[in-house]
Amino acid sequence: MTFTISYIFLVLLLFPFQYCSSSVSSLNKGSSLSVEKHTEDVIVSSNGTFSAGFYQIGENAFSFAIWFTELQNQSHNPVNIVWMANREQPVNGKNSKLFLLNTGNIILLDAGQHNTWSSNTASDAPLELYLREDGNLVLRELQGPTILWQSYDFPTNTLLPNQPLTRYTNLVSSRSHSNHSSGFYKLFFDDNNVIRLDYDGPDISSTYWPPSFLLSWQAGRTNYNSTRIALLDSLGKFISSDNYFFSTYDYGMVMQRRLTLDSDGNIRVYSRKNLLENWYVSWQVISDTCIIDGICGANSACSYDPKKGKKCSCLPGYKMKNHNDWSYGCEPTFDFTCNKSESTFFELHGFEFYGYDSNFVQNSTYENCESLCLQACNCTGFQYSYEEDQNIFQCYTKLQLLNGRHSPSFIGKTFLRLPKGNNFSKEESISVTDNVCLLQLHKDFVGKQTSHLLKFFMWLSVTVGGLEFFFFVVVCCFLIKTEKKPNGDRHNYHHALFGFRRYSYSELKIATKNFSNEIGRGGGGIVYRGTLPDERHVAIKRLNEAKQGEGEFLAEVSIIGRLNHMNLIEMWGYCAEGKHRLLVYEYMENGSLAENLSSKTNTLDWSKRYDIALGTARVLAYLHEECLEWILHCDIKPQNILLDSNFQPKLADFGLSKLKSRNNLNNNSEFSMIRGTRGYMAPEWISNSPITSKVDVYSYGVVLLDMITGKSPTMMNMEGVDGEVAYNGRLINWVREKKRSRCWVEEIMDPKIGTNCDSSKMEILAKVALECVEVDKNIRPTMSQVVEKLQRNEIDS
Ligand SMILES: *[C@@H]1O[C@H](CO)[C@@H](O)[C@H](O)[C@H]1NC(C)=O
Ligand SMILES: *[C@@H]1O[C@H](CO)[C@@H](O)[C@H](O)[C@H]1NC(C)=O
Ligand SMILES: *[C@@H]1O[C@H](CO)[C@@H](O)[C@H](O)[C@H]1NC(C)=O
Ligand SMILES: *[C@@H]1O[C@H](CO)[C@@H](O)[C@H](O)[C@H]1NC(C)=O
Ligand SMILES: *[C@@H]1O[C@H](CO)[C@@H](O)[C@H](O)[C@H]1NC(C)=O
Ligand SMILES: *[C@@H]1O[C@H](CO)[C@@H](O)[C@H](O)[C@H]1NC(C)=O
Ligand SMILES: *[C@@H]1O[C@H](CO)[C@@H](O)[C@H](O)[C@H]1NC(C)=O
Ligand SMILES: *[C@@H]1O[C@H](CO)[C@@H](O)[C@H](O)[C@H]1NC(C)=O
Repeated sequence: MTFTISYIFLVLLLFPFQYCSSSVSSLNKGSSLSVEKHTEDVIVSSNGTFSAGFYQIGENAFSFAIWFTELQNQSHNPVNIVWMANREQPVNGKNSKLFLLNTGNIILLDAGQHNTWSSNTASDAPLELYLREDGNLVLRELQGPTILWQSYDFPTNTLLPNQPLTRYTNLVSSRSHSNHSSGFYKLFFDDNNVIRLDYDGPDISSTYWPPSFLLSWQAGRTNYNSTRIALLDSLGKFISSDNYFFSTYDYGMVMQRRLTLDSDGNIRVYSRKNLLENWYVSWQVISDTCIIDGICGANSACSYDPKKGKKCSCLPGYKMKNHNDWSYGCEPTFDFTCNKSESTFFELHGFEFYGYDSNFVQNSTYENCESLCLQACNCTGFQYSYEEDQNIFQCYTKLQLLNGRHSPSFIGKTFLRLPKGNNFSKEESISVTDNVCLLQLHKDFVGKQTSHLLKFFMWLSVTVGGLEFFFFVVVCCFLIKTEKKPNGDRHNYHHALFGFRRYSYSELKIATKNFSNEIGRGGGGIVYRGTLPDERHVAIKRLNEAKQGEGEFLAEVSIIGRLNHMNLIEMWGYCAEGKHRLLVYEYMENGSLAENLSSKTNTLDWSKRYDIALGTARVLAYLHEECLEWILHCDIKPQNILLDSNFQPKLADFGLSKLKSRNNLNNNSEFSMIRGTRGYMAPEWISNSPITSKVDVYSYGVVLLDMITGKSPTMMNMEGVDGEVAYNGRLINWVREKKRSRCWVEEIMDPKIGTNCDSSKMEILAKVALECVEVDKNIRPTMSQVVEKLQRNEIDS
């Protein structure tokens, strides 16, 4: 105490006068900002974009912060704080000051007494504390380039464009909208060089992004780049050194942006064009916020409701622990009993709980599962779920009821252990309490009116609601269930959440010069080349009007629009206006794999072909496994693999024209329709056996053979018997026959590849290809096994 007081005396003696003009441009040694004058004592960046000063966060409580400047007449708008010096310890509204001391240190004094924060800098040289136009508060030497301290090195919950996240920095969410103290979520680079999100809550901690059940490479990440740097650029592209990246849906436009780890554990990018506009969400990392750990706390379930958004509810027999804060979850209203005969079980349909299992029994009867739970005092309930593939029931007994989600599509039940004799009613206990952060956050985003499309998205997010993992969508070719009569029109914000932009028909007409430059044609429509006003080249697919394909259209928009992988074609936007349905994609310089394979000149040497094989395998593994077999492409062929300027493959065309009926989600008859392209289709389509991700594996195998031999399976058909029966055999049989000879790889290899070739790699490709085209789908490898095989070889050599 005496120390701080003498400190202040020193300060006051040395610098008896205060800086006092409205809007300061910088602070020099000996000057200070004072909390009483927080409206005037504000450091403003040169063009006025950012302000730094005391910001009132509560009654008589202030923090020293940096924020986006708002216009005077918009002062009702919430201020967007991008940095805070003292987020945990607000200072008093009286006598608190920020000093730049003569010693070179910046200190924040609370009520003229306690030093609550300092920059820990020292210098004899003349210094200046100023706010740069990019929002970085910098302490620098007046003469010379030395920067002693900058706020960019100590981010709180927000990154500004071009502010790197490094191995030394992290983002920590705020506790809530109004409470800026550190919350439970953290974004950082882990020891394996992967950027990830952790939840560190009152009771438990866990990693939820990338999902902990995925290996990093399955999530499209790499461990090998130890640079550990991630950055959002001013155009809206986020790139991390572990291979994770995304583009905001308003990519390319120059505007104010910020990337924030919100208090609900989601990362969102917010944009606005200028001071007069409102902020909107231009990207969010996690679409289904129910998968964020700890979102509703323990003993609760998270669910989506079409009208209200995300909801948390306590399980029967449990009540909310802290009525203002779901992160504390729910607590039992009863005493746990160890006595078997005093326990009963409460059945919940369509609720599942992830993790914290004490036992797992494959193929268990209900009675076994129940008695297993009764035997342990610490068993709070069990999940009894049906495993469709194997036609068995699985039993998970639970130590804790965490990560609860409600999902109508979850085939299984959860049984809560409750004491007998109590009258726990579902109706009472699952009283739903709304906890919709999104609505509040996005109320600024005003769309003209809710279109059918937006309602559909709304509905989609509902479907997504409860599934254990990210994606729900659809099986082969998208069995998307429709909502009969969507209603409610307050959810315009959803528009922004899917990572792409809506264009008007006239915009796209101009971009394509009245649809003059045709570059491709398919069942679903015609593809034109175009250029957006921001000079990006795009491929614009105009869907056939006759198709009436709202469903197909929406399927493609929602699937590609939400997914994110470097080997997946990127969708930038769409247009749905009157009868017009258009999709806007990034333009691929090098056309399709099919064009390249059939071109007279050899554009693809063996190493490019190998890379294409690996990239395509990676994205399929991502679709099949990260999304847990929910997304099957069903039309893998060289025409749908596009090549960018570096000949990296990008998978395109998600079966637009193939989604014919989307009314019966659970009906297998959906599969009775053959989907795909002759020559590349798996035999299951014909033999009427179950359709799984292995149909894509098969098609992928044929594509590999196509790439190795340069022979198209459809061409092969023409040599011999034509027709459905022989639809797949020729090319494969030819390669199998050749395999008997010693130099088979050389014999089958596309002559265009030439002699300058690593034939051992070609052999690996050929062997993998033959495994993939096995008639028995169980013998075919999964796509992640294919990736492993190709990748292992990549690393070895
Ligand atoms: C500040 O504004 C001027 C005039 O509008 C502009 O020319 C300049 O580029 C801006 N500077 C920054 C750093 O944005
Ligand atoms: C706020 O002020 C600016 C400039 O003075 C003006 O252009 C704008 O229309 C005003 N906005 C509102 C909502 O009054
Ligand atoms: C903000 O959150 C912190 C940490 O949970 C808590 O200690 C503090 O009391 C909260 N402040 C307010 C004003 O609720
Ligand atoms: C590692 O990541 C950085 C930043 O993204 C990039 O510049 C660099 O090329 C990467 N290094 C390797 C070996 O991929
Ligand atoms: C369990 O409860 C039953 C019925 O309430 C009682 O008869 C029995 O003694 C209890 N057993 C133990 C071990 O407490
Ligand atoms: C499951 O258990 C039943 C009876 O215990 C047995 O008949 C059946 O073969 C088992 N199924 C599998 C797939 O193990
Ligand atoms: C739960 O109880 C069982 C037996 O009652 C015991 O074996 C197990 O270690 C307990 N688990 C925990 C995490 O306490
Ligand atoms: C349980 O509660 C419901 C409604 O809350 C009531 O109708 C019913 O009679 C109660 N049953 C018992 C056994 O108390």
